Amino acid sequence: PSTGYLRVPPSLLKQHNGRKGKDAWTVLGGRVYNITPYLPYHPGGVPELIRVAGRDGSKLFGEVHPWVNWEGMLEGCLIGMAVEEGERG
Ligand code: HEM
Repeated sequence: PSTGYLRVPPSLLKQHNGRKGKDAWTVLGGRVYNITPYLPYHPGGVPELIRVAGRDGSKLFGEVHPWVNWEGMLEGCLIGMAVEEGERG
């Protein structure tokens, strides 16, 4: 069934690593966010934030600032759901 959201396997996520002009996607709590427009606003700076680009950022995020409400903050950046490789809607 279609949810209206993109279903993103790790291989697709990996392509959006924020490098060489590519946009930056990350996964937090199973949700996929395009964090490209947020990059310049991150209080911790671009280099830190780019570390989670192209991969699941949940663990690192939780280590640096578990109190930050990413779900509310990044609502407008939500583009999809993380799925296993080969999984289909
Ligand atoms: C600070 C958001 C990912 C490192 C902050 C703050 C927010 C934020 C709102 C201010 C928190 C406060 O003052 O209480 C986000 C979001 C992220 C993200 C939405 C992911 C999409 C990361 C990652 C790292 C990181 C992956 C490190 C690897 C930091 C640091 C600060 C900070 C070091 C402190 C900056 C300072 O106070 O000087 N971030 N962050 N952040 N963030 Fe992030």
